[in-house]
Amino acid sequence: MQTQDLVGIITYGDEMKENILEKINQAPDTEPERQYYFMELAKELVEEKSKEAGRKLTFCVVTFGCQMNARDSEKLEGILEHAGYEKSEDEHSDFVIYNTCTVRENANLRVYGRLGNLNRLKQKNPHMMIGLCGCMMQEPHVVEKLKKSYRFVNLVFGTHNIYKFAELLVQSLVQKTMVIDIWKDTDKIVENLPVDRKYSFKSGVNIMFGCNNFCSYCIVPYVRGRERSRNPKDILREIEHLVEDGVKEVMLLGQNVNSYGKNLEDPITFAQLLEEIVKIDGLERVRFMTSHPKDLSDELIEVMGNYPKICNHLHLPLQSGSTKILKVMNRRYTKEQYLELVEKIRRAVPGISLTTDIIVGFPGETEEDFDETLDVVRKVRYDSAFTFIYSKRSGTPAAVMEDQVPADVIKVRFDRLLKEVQTISAQEVGRLTGTVQEVLVEGMNDHDPTLVTGRMTNNLLVHFPGDESMIGSLRQVSLDTCKGFYYMGTERK
Ligand code: SAH
Ligand code: SF4
Ligand code: F3S
Repeated sequence: MQTQDLVGIITYGDEMKENILEKINQAPDTEPERQYYFMELAKELVEEKSKEAGRKLTFCVVTFGCQMNARDSEKLEGILEHAGYEKSEDEHSDFVIYNTCTVRENANLRVYGRLGNLNRLKQKNPHMMIGLCGCMMQEPHVVEKLKKSYRFVNLVFGTHNIYKFAELLVQSLVQKTMVIDIWKDTDKIVENLPVDRKYSFKSGVNIMFGCNNFCSYCIVPYVRGRERSRNPKDILREIEHLVEDGVKEVMLLGQNVNSYGKNLEDPITFAQLLEEIVKIDGLERVRFMTSHPKDLSDELIEVMGNYPKICNHLHLPLQSGSTKILKVMNRRYTKEQYLELVEKIRRAVPGISLTTDIIVGFPGETEEDFDETLDVVRKVRYDSAFTFIYSKRSGTPAAVMEDQVPADVIKVRFDRLLKEVQTISAQEVGRLTGTVQEVLVEGMNDHDPTLVTGRMTNNLLVHFPGDESMIGSLRQVSLDTCKGFYYMGTERK
């Protein structure tokens, strides 16, 4: 970086410019030390900027997409807080970051729409900076569009280099022009960076990054890169620290947790990792997302049945019930194999709550194929299902397949599926009425200040009388009435 590139945004004197450049050049090469060095440097710069503004500077990270992105946002927030920014929920902030998703086209369009708004806010606030990161930024056409039509954005980075956010933050604090840093892929995993958890009592924990499955409709492998598993020791240490810090429940995160550990130097299975995790004293609950049916082993099913700490819930994406469509989707299981798997799981873990993802209108899907999907839905009887209209993602094999299904046909199928899913879910969810269940209290009820809201191990919500002091604790609650997707209850003391 040259002296003349320096900002702008803070009115640095010449001496300070030299000083900053020198400090940037002196950064250590090893990680995470390098990032901690940049956090300190960012702190100095933010302090300077804050003096100039005459107030504390604020930030707001807006998350689109999945749990993986939510966890990444907590990492960004940890670094921004370290650098001296104050957290705000409001986009009228001095640093607004959109952590984007591109799994479906509409996720993508929402970001462009909201960016226009941010620009208006920026024109009113001379201290404001805008950052964009996440999966959408890994698509070259998106970055081209930003460079051309969204020049007011200060920082653009992707999913592979998120660990160097502190460094990029410093760069964007001192550079006049848009900072863009996108990597095609990485095999690097940097441990021990700060995280600002959204909840004190539960936390996501990445166990792997990327995906190697290349389902033919899905963009995730292209924007998240190849599958990399974290070292089990690092995962266990992180969870132990979380527990020391008050965490009772962890959600292990990966695009396909069932293939965890295959590419490690000392291979280990996901089931073996789980067995180690449940041994951690003080940890009460373990969840995981997402399980690919093709890799769900008998070993894992057995472990799920053996340890009460493992939550009574499995999200098992179906995508389609038609063996023909599943083959073209490259899912590598048949309708029959999926149904057998469900039976095996239900036998080993009685009462388990099953949820799923389903795509409607994949290229070539006929009425008969769609009926197969309805058939699986009726046979499995999911507690809930996320239903998606197929969205064409350029660069994926499905995007160029012939016989794309017309939108009006998809709409009719989608509505039929949704109705079926909702009817079944309404019948299934109430099956625990009258029983007493363990509930982790997550917060006060949004509408009634005399109630708290908590989650059962099957992931369903329960509202019952209580107060703020109960947040983060496990309670025995009798489930009095089921209201469709949640229960009303009373605590059993
Ligand atoms: N790794 C997870 C899913 C990640 S994406 C898994 O394999 O299950 C979350 C969900 O988005 C997918 O399960 C799928 O149902 C949906 N999805 C992915 N690509 C899509 C597309 N192009 N159109 C519509 N839905 C899609
Ligand atoms: Fe996408 Fe398939 Fe990987 Fe899930 S497993 S992220 S659907 S490619
Ligand atoms: Fe979206 Fe990326 Fe997750 S595309 S669904 S945020 S992995």
